[in-house]
Amino acid sequence: MSTDAKPPIIPPKPVSRAAGFGFFRYIRAFRRDILSANPAKLYRAKMAEFRLPFLHTFLVNQPSLWRHVLTRSPQDFPKSPRFAAGLEPLLGQGVFLTNGAQWERQRRIIDPAFEGGRLRDTFPAMLAVSQASVERLRPLAQTGPVEVEAHMSHATADVIFRTLFSMPIEDQIAGAVFREFRAFQGTQPLLNLAAFVPLPRWMPRFHRRETRRAAGRIRALTAGLVAARRQAIAEGRAPDDLATKIMTTADPQTGQCFDDAEMIDQVAVFFLAGHETSASALGWALYVLALDAETQAQVAAEAVRELGESPEFSAVSRLKLARDVFREALRLYPPVPMMVREATRATVFRGRNVPKGAQAVVSPWYLGRHEAHWDQPDAFCPARWSTPEGRAAARDAFLPFSAGPRVCPGAGFAMIEGPLLLAMLARAFEFSPDAARPPEPVAHLTVRAKSGIWLNIKPRTGC
Ligand code: HEM
Repeated sequence: MSTDAKPPIIPPKPVSRAAGFGFFRYIRAFRRDILSANPAKLYRAKMAEFRLPFLHTFLVNQPSLWRHVLTRSPQDFPKSPRFAAGLEPLLGQGVFLTNGAQWERQRRIIDPAFEGGRLRDTFPAMLAVSQASVERLRPLAQTGPVEVEAHMSHATADVIFRTLFSMPIEDQIAGAVFREFRAFQGTQPLLNLAAFVPLPRWMPRFHRRETRRAAGRIRALTAGLVAARRQAIAEGRAPDDLATKIMTTADPQTGQCFDDAEMIDQVAVFFLAGHETSASALGWALYVLALDAETQAQVAAEAVRELGESPEFSAVSRLKLARDVFREALRLYPPVPMMVREATRATVFRGRNVPKGAQAVVSPWYLGRHEAHWDQPDAFCPARWSTPEGRAAARDAFLPFSAGPRVCPGAGFAMIEGPLLLAMLARAFEFSPDAARPPEPVAHLTVRAKSGIWLNIKPRTGC
């Protein structure tokens, strides 16, 4: 790809495992990091089959196969209950975990809240968070390296609270929910025994005590927010935000709305799916931008030109470079690295028998860096998004938001929030990497940097 004369910028990538692993060694490696537990051939393969004593898995990179799983026959590949098990204490029957008729009904109620016209209404909250984020970083500029991942978590949680419940993160309850989420994630809830060993449905799932406690505290706080909102709606004084929209939308088929218990589950999903993912993407986007001073200056210049003193919603669509940088970060570091489904009937993939109960994995991580689709797959090159080759590769191998009926309902939301925050930050500051602490990507719940993302920050001048 000769879209750029500069030497390629290759940001960090986990080292793949060299040899085959036994069951227990695989579990240990998986607990450390899902990505380095796998072999490098996944960056080249059309498909890979893994057999562990209790786990038969097919990772599908071939576009016709992932389309079969996600878009053509999704009813035959529901979300795998094995990988959902770890999140159940927090998400209950939330839309992220359910399947079948229950899931369809939940999406009918949730999706209207994220339609195009409604996204415009979320813009003032996103702008306010971007401005607050700049102000929070300002006193830290030139004081030594700053860990920006935590700042991005704070910012994206703030966006979720403001858009969902019209409250900034400075609010006492919002702050408490945010802290409890960090505690929940720290317990590594996905690494639950049920992910590896098939347990009958009737058998209770065992979760770490800390996981259950953190989930319980989050749900108690959320229950208070939902109850207060229900009352505000009844009294006609509820703000016109996402929570009100979702709680007052009736399922067009049954005419019923979510009750409070269902809404508590959905709120937990929005906090988890909506802030953790965006924070991960923004942290990596800032990092790759810090590696490329020239592109960073162009993003800043674009922001000055297009946003002006009082940015408007329409300006976001003109942040073309910021959007390409954000997309490139999503390609290289997709926050959700794997989507796991379970085959509910036997089938055949590339001549191999896929038994009922096997796991089908579609991986935005391996697709995003796949050697058959992308030129210089590990290089940070936002210019590829303007080329016909780049756009063609994206159709077959760019899935950060999934695809098909279970596609992320927040994709449009995230594609406003991400480029806007990036542009506002690049306009205010110059970022450069802390050479002593390059980030090490690891995948647990999302793709994060093992010891954070450390950047030097100084106020930007003269653009
Ligand atoms: C960069 C940001 C984001 C990324 C990369 C992302 C990615 C994804 C992916 C890959 C899935 C599908 C997971 C699977 O099927 O296994 C998903 C589902 C979901 N996301 Fe997002 N997401 C982002 C932001 C958001 C935001 C901002 C919201 C809401 C405000 C949101 C709400 C949801 C919900 C509710 C689901 C479950 C959908 C279902 O299962 O039907 N996401 N997201």
